[in-house]
Amino acid sequence: MKNTVVIGAQWGDEGKAKITDLLASRADLIIRYQGGCNAGHTVVTNGVTYKFHLIPSGILYNKAVCFIGAGVVIHPESFEKEFNELKAQGVKFDNLKISPLATITMPYNIEVDGWNEANSGKGKIGTTKRGIGPTYTDKMARIALKIQDLYSFEALNEKLDMILPIKNKTLEKVYGLEPYTKDCLISLCETYAELFRPYVCFEWQDMLNRFKDKTILFEGAQGVMLDIDYGTYPFVTSSNPIGGGAATGSGYGPCMIQDVVGVTKAYVTRVGEGPFVTELTDETGKRIQDVGHEFGVTTGRPRRCGWFDAVIMKYAVLVGGITNVALTKLDVFDDFDEIKICVAYKDCRNDKVYTTYPTDVFIHKYLEPIYETVEGWKTSLSEMKSYDELPENTKKYIAKVEDLIGAPVGIISVGPDREQTIFVEK
Ligand code: GDP
Ligand code: IMO
Ligand code: MG
Repeated sequence: MKNTVVIGAQWGDEGKAKITDLLASRADLIIRYQGGCNAGHTVVTNGVTYKFHLIPSGILYNKAVCFIGAGVVIHPESFEKEFNELKAQGVKFDNLKISPLATITMPYNIEVDGWNEANSGKGKIGTTKRGIGPTYTDKMARIALKIQDLYSFEALNEKLDMILPIKNKTLEKVYGLEPYTKDCLISLCETYAELFRPYVCFEWQDMLNRFKDKTILFEGAQGVMLDIDYGTYPFVTSSNPIGGGAATGSGYGPCMIQDVVGVTKAYVTRVGEGPFVTELTDETGKRIQDVGHEFGVTTGRPRRCGWFDAVIMKYAVLVGGITNVALTKLDVFDDFDEIKICVAYKDCRNDKVYTTYPTDVFIHKYLEPIYETVEGWKTSLSEMKSYDELPENTKKYIAKVEDLIGAPVGIISVGPDREQTIFVEK
């Protein structure tokens, strides 16, 4: 396998973890490069379901080194909970490593996320309330704590002297929240230091150099349409899930990436607020939600559902750098008579047709999807093991998707289990 990045091509929850887990069997090093515990990643193997948020989904093989990179934000209490739950399921962490440069989500970041959500009225993003936006805000404002600060009293002391006056003033004056004392934060940081100590990889530069000639898998979280620069801003997350994010969040440069697998469902889902042109608020949307079990892994919220949108997918191929597509959840359509694909948008104010993605999301409320309809296959795909076995109508659907988005489908997923996957060899 070439060095590969796995990214979500839509608004998250495309089945990235399943694809990461599959490709992880061929990798020597797996690097999660952005996001935090806003992610909810599911892997199903031999009937057992594993849920990941921060820990790389490739850890189940216990062969490759799993590295949480500098681009990730880590909420210690969530990490501990996830770690303990996976440990109880028998997962081993001998190969887990954490970058000293990863950023820590502090309790006040979570409080501020909650406050923003409760007080933003129409501007509410519908975040996961995991403190993601406020943590990345602190990082960019250069007032965040990094994992490495936990192991240097001098750095921690100096940084807290710099951070706390600003932080407390904002907490009290802007948000009406309680200030923090230095002693309280130092004591918290001591607990965090113990929690992470076995996994912090201070020799990460040597490690990355050692793996330069090996096979590297980069694991993205969220999806292109949630990207801070290219997504449906401001209804996005606060990091770069696009393929390029792997080059900033991992410690390797762009020349180390040879393949970008864009994971997409055969339809679209979205959790939280924000535009969604092909959203179905009718019975069909409900049917997709029921058959696809579309409920969030992290927050349990029902996911909004709609038809496949080739306009956003073509955009994701471009800005995400996608070279190869993994098409998931095809089995959800097994009983559908017909399936729609959005090929363009029409602005109902002036009939203007968009075949490329209009980035001004405030006009999206005027956009109507233009659909092409393909016939369903009315057969269960879930046991199929090869491309040749697929019904003709499924092949036609896949060919149509490839044609519209300008990228080949290399992996087809027909069920949640690791085994329910077809590698396309046409
Ligand atoms: P991620 O965040 O992109 O890793 O995706 P999630 O884990 O949040 O959501 C994907 C859900 O779909 C999980 O429950 C998976 O077990 C499930 N899943 C993945 N691929 C397939 C598939 O091809 N068919 C079906 N029916 N379920 C799938
Ligand atoms: P995975 O990795 C789906 C969404 C939230 C909200 C927006 C901002 O499982 O695909 P945040 O908490 O990040 O500030 O919320 O982004 N969101 C996700 N939606 N899957 C995810 O992760 C998501 N992570 C964040 O619902 O709309
Ligand atoms: Mg998810």
